[in-house]
Amino acid sequence: MSHLIAPSMLAADFSNLKKDIDLVNNSEADWFHLDVMDGVFVPNISFGVPVIKAIKKHTTKTLDVHLMIVNPDKFIDDFKKAGADVLTVHYEACPHLHRTVQAIKASGMKAGVSLNPHTPVAVLEDIITDLDLVLIMSVNPGFGGQSFIENTYKKIIQLKDLILKSGSEALIEIDGGVNAQNTPKLLAVGADVLVAGSFVFKSDNPTQTIADLKNI
Ligand code: DX5
Ligand code: ZN
Repeated sequence: MSHLIAPSMLAADFSNLKKDIDLVNNSEADWFHLDVMDGVFVPNISFGVPVIKAIKKHTTKTLDVHLMIVNPDKFIDDFKKAGADVLTVHYEACPHLHRTVQAIKASGMKAGVSLNPHTPVAVLEDIITDLDLVLIMSVNPGFGGQSFIENTYKKIIQLKDLILKSGSEALIEIDGGVNAQNTPKLLAVGADVLVAGSFVFKSDNPTQTIADLKNI
C-alpha cells in the first residue's frame, strides 16, 4: 500500500472552510484529519461534532477524527453520527482503553489509539491486535505548527516491530511537524499515514504540497 496523506483541517481557514474542504477534495489527499480538543486533555480548544457534521456533507473522503479529549467514551455515538470513519482516542485519556476500543468498533468505526511523545510504544502490547490504527504524536498535542520530535523515528521502528510480531493490521499514523524533509525517513521506517497541517495550508500551493507529500 502506498502511504496516505491526511491534511489537518486545524490549519485550514475557518472563515472559509468550504474552500479548504474543496481543496482537499480535489487534491491527492486520502483522508481529512480532524483534531478535536477540549481544553482539558490539551491546553487548547478547537472544534467538535457540529463542524465534523458540516465537513461530512461536502466530502466522500475518509474522516479521520483525532480526539484530544477526556472521557471520549461519552461521545463515541455522536462522532459516529457526525460521520467519523476512523476515531482515535489517546492512551493517556483512557483508563479502560480496551472497553473504549471495543465501543468504537461496535459503533462501526475504525479504532485508533494515539500515544503522546513521552508514552512508550510497549504500553500497546496487549491491545495491538484490536487496533486499526496507532497514531504516534510527533509533537505535544494541542497546537499546529510545532517542530517535529526526532525520537519519533525510534518509536515507529518499535511499533512496526510490535505490529509485525503480533500479526496486527494496524496502520501507523504520524502527526505533528510533518514536512517534505522528514517524510522520506518517516516512510522508510514504516509510517503508513502522514498528517500535515501547517506544511500544507501555510504553503503557497497547498494542492501541490499535498501532491508532493503523496508522491515522495
Ligand atoms: C496537534 C494535532 C495535529 C496538528 C498538526 O495536536 O494533533 O494534527 O494539526 O499540525 P502541524 O502539521 O502543523 O504540526
Ligand atoms: Zn491530530
